[in-house]
Amino acid sequence: MSIYGDYIKSVIRTVPDWPEPGVNFRDITPLLQNSAAFRKLIDSFVHRYQEMNLDAIASIDARGFIIGAPLAYELGCSFVPVRKKGKLPFQTISETYTLEYGHSEVELHSDAFQKDDRILLMDDLIATGGTMLAAANLIQRSGGHVVETATIIDLPELGGSQKIRDAGFGVFAVCS
Ligand code: PRP
Ligand code: HPA
Repeated sequence: MSIYGDYIKSVIRTVPDWPEPGVNFRDITPLLQNSAAFRKLIDSFVHRYQEMNLDAIASIDARGFIIGAPLAYELGCSFVPVRKKGKLPFQTISETYTLEYGHSEVELHSDAFQKDDRILLMDDLIATGGTMLAAANLIQRSGGHVVETATIIDLPELGGSQKIRDAGFGVFAVCS
């Protein structure tokens, strides 16, 4: 957790029963509307990653882009989008993962990284961990090295962050 974790958590809204009954949806739009809070969020990531000698920030379609792009800009790294299936125009590699009902797929351009590039993988939230883990596996398959995975919110009770750690990837969460 970051030094601003409690503050960041306080500006994230929980919407009960969305998108379906029983789900408490963590809504980051109040955080994005609050410029001071958004700056503290990005500063938390800058503080953690500025000395880690990263080559690229990869982040996940769509909400991951909101935090990945400003961090890449601030650290002077390249930015690489990991996209949902069918969105990337050039040659891709892909990874399928299981959702509660059915499957989903993430894709990466085959020329997104140089071999052994040091990559930070980011997304806004870890629930079951399926999305982050599929993206991390994709980056490793493409020859990149996932230095860590990072998120704004971890929901540890869903077991996703533990699953990602069990697969050998570090997890940094600003709040949980
Ligand atoms: C949400 C969230 C993460 C993922 C987390 O994305 O932004 O990417 O789900 O869930 P998991 O840990 O169970 O895989 P969503 O697919 O809703 O896409 P969006 O960012 O386009 O809204
Ligand atoms: N908030 C945002 N995205 C999500 C959530 C949530 O609570 N659960 C799965 N994806």
